[in-house]
Amino acid sequence: MSDRIHTLSGYFHEYQKSLAEPDKFWARIADSFHWRKRWDKVLDWNFEGPDVKWFVNGKLNITENVLERHLFTLGDRPAIIWEPNDPNEEGRVLTYQELYHKVCKFSNALKAKGIGKGDKVIIYMPMVPEAAVAMLACARIGAVHSVVFAGFSSNALADRIEDCQAKAVLTSDGNFRGKKKIEVKAVVDEALEKTNDVETVVVYQRTKQDVVMKEGRDYWWHDFIAGQAETNTATEMDSEDMLFILYTSGSTGKPKGIVHTTGGYMVYSKYTFENVFQYSPGDIYWCTADIGWITGHSYIVYGPLLAGATSIMFEGVPTYPDAGRFWAIVDKYKVNQFYTAPTAIRALEAHGTEPIEPYKLDSLKVLGTVGEPINEEAWHWYHTHVGKNRCPIVDTWWQTETGGIMVSPLAGVTPNKPAYATLPLPGVQLAIVDPEGNELTGNSVEGNLCIKFPWPGMLRTTYGDHERCKQTYFATYKGMYFTGDGVKRDHDGYYRILGRVDDVINVSGHRMGTAEVENAINEHPKVIESAVVGYPHEVKGQGIYAYVICDMTNRTVENLTNEIKETVRKIIGPIAKPDKVQIVSGLPKTRSGKIMRRILRKVAEGAMDDMGDTSTLLDPEVVEEIKKNRIN
Ligand code: WTA
Repeated sequence: MSDRIHTLSGYFHEYQKSLAEPDKFWARIADSFHWRKRWDKVLDWNFEGPDVKWFVNGKLNITENVLERHLFTLGDRPAIIWEPNDPNEEGRVLTYQELYHKVCKFSNALKAKGIGKGDKVIIYMPMVPEAAVAMLACARIGAVHSVVFAGFSSNALADRIEDCQAKAVLTSDGNFRGKKKIEVKAVVDEALEKTNDVETVVVYQRTKQDVVMKEGRDYWWHDFIAGQAETNTATEMDSEDMLFILYTSGSTGKPKGIVHTTGGYMVYSKYTFENVFQYSPGDIYWCTADIGWITGHSYIVYGPLLAGATSIMFEGVPTYPDAGRFWAIVDKYKVNQFYTAPTAIRALEAHGTEPIEPYKLDSLKVLGTVGEPINEEAWHWYHTHVGKNRCPIVDTWWQTETGGIMVSPLAGVTPNKPAYATLPLPGVQLAIVDPEGNELTGNSVEGNLCIKFPWPGMLRTTYGDHERCKQTYFATYKGMYFTGDGVKRDHDGYYRILGRVDDVINVSGHRMGTAEVENAINEHPKVIESAVVGYPHEVKGQGIYAYVICDMTNRTVENLTNEIKETVRKIIGPIAKPDKVQIVSGLPKTRSGKIMRRILRKVAEGAMDDMGDTSTLLDPEVVEEIKKNRIN
C-alpha cells in the first residue's frame, strides 16, 4: 500500500487529518511496515523533558523492512547502484537479494566478535556500498552506528569515538576523491592512539595503499566475513531502541551526538522520501550527499531502501574528471530523481552550461536541494539548464535533528516558488515566534522557526547528556522545539528559510559552530583570542572569517595565518578551514566583556557603513583598525 499524495487538495486533506488526529494519521502509515509486534500506543510525549515516544512497545527490526520485506517481490531489483570516482572503473550493482546476503554476512561477523545490541560502532568510510552494508548490519544486530564523515580529522574522530565509547571502528585503507587518494586507515590509527575503547577495527580494501594492521585488533573486511553464513535472523528491537547517533555542530562547545530511534525514524524517512520525491516503483533515484551526513542516512540509505527504490551511490566529486560528471551519471543510469546541495549547483553554474550539453537529461522528473538556503539565481539555473523547465524542484528544509524532510514541496503537487521550501509536510506543525516567544500568526510574518508538536523522525536526546538536548532545543521557547533557523511566511502562507539565527555557520551545506572553530584556532600556541563569523560566499553559501589576536614574536602575518588555517584543518578537518584570517590587536567588546559579533559580521560582509548601534562598545578604535585592515 502506498501512502503517496497525488494532488494539492489531497495534500491539504492529509495535512488536516494529521492535525486533527495525529495518532490515527501516523498509525495508518506505520501499518504498512512489518512489525514483529504492533505498538500499544502511537504517541506519548511532553516537550518539557523532553520525553517523546512513538509506536510505544512496538517490536521490529528496521532491516527486515529494508530487506526481507522486499525479497520476494523485488529481490532482483537493484537496491544500490555504485558509481566509482574514476569513470573508467567498472561500477557495481547490488540487488535487494545481494544486499540481504551482504548485510547478513557482515552482521554475523560482527556478532562473532561479540558485538551486539546497544554496542556503539563507528563507521568512518568512503562512499562505497560496504558503508551502507555496515550501517544496515549494525541495525540488524541492534548495534548503534555512528557514521563519521571521512573528511574529519583524527582529533574529531577520536572525540566521537570517546563520546559514544565505541567498541568497533569500520573503515577502509584509503579513499579516492577526484585526483586525490586520501588516507583513511592512517587517520583511524592516529585517533585510536588517543582513545582506548575500541577492540575491533575492520578495514575495507579500496585503494590498496599500504596500511599498518595491528595484530588482534585490525582485520581486513574480506577476512572478517570469510566463512560467515549469508542469512540470519534480525535482532528484535523496541520502537524506541537507539538506531544511530550522528554528531553535529551547534553554537556551543563540542559537537553533540543526535540520537535517533528505530520505529519513528523508519516510518518518517520512508514516508517523506516517497512523498517529497513522488517516487514510483522502478524509478532510479540519486542523492549526491555523503553518508557521513544526515542526508546520506535518510535519503541514500534508509528512506529509499525502505521504499524498495534503487539508490545511486557516487564515490567521487562533481568536477572530476570534469564539470559534466553529474550529468554523465544522470545520463548513464537514466536517473529520475536527482537530489543535491545548492553549493554544488553554484559550483557547477560557474562552469557554464557547456558541460551539460553532451548529455541527455530527459529521464529526470524531479530535482531536489538540501542543506542551505538556495538563492534565486541558482534555483533558476538548476530549473532551466538541468530541469529544462520541465522538472519541479523540491527545496527541502530539515536538520540532523529532525531525521527527515520537514518543509518542502511535494514534487509536481505543490506549486514551486523559487527559493521557498513552501509548505510543511503532513504531521509537521510549524510556529513562527518573535524573540519573546510569542507565536506570530497570519501571513506576511518573519521570525524564528519552531515546531509545536512531535513528529516520528525527531531526535530523542543528545547522547550522554539529556540536559543539553533540553537546553539547546526545548528551553528557548517553552513547549516548542527551536530549530535555530529564521523564517518568513509570505502572503500566500509559503515558507522561506532565511538561515541560522544562532552562532552556527553553514559552509557548503556543512554545519560549523563558530565556537568549535574558535576552540581549534585557540590551540595554536601563538593565539591569544579569536572570534569567528560567517560571511556570504558565492559558491559555499557562507565562508569562515576569523579575527585573531596573536603573539607576533618570531612570526610574520603570512606564516601565522597559514599556520592558523593548518591548525584548524588538523583539529577539525578541511571543511572547517577559515577562508580569511585577520590578525587584529583587539576584538570589539561591550563593557561587560562580550564580543560584539554583529560588528565583526558587518566587517566580514563589507557592510562597513552600516554598523548599527555601537554605543555600548568599550574601545571604538579597535573597530576602526579592524575595518582598515579588513581582508577582501
Ligand atoms: C540549513 C541538513 C535553507 C538550515 C539536512 C538547517 C536549509 C541546517 C535547508 C541543518 C533548506 C537545510 N533551505 N536552509 N532547504 N536545508 N538547511 O543538520 O540552517 O546538516 O538548520 O541537516 O541546514 O543542517 P544539517
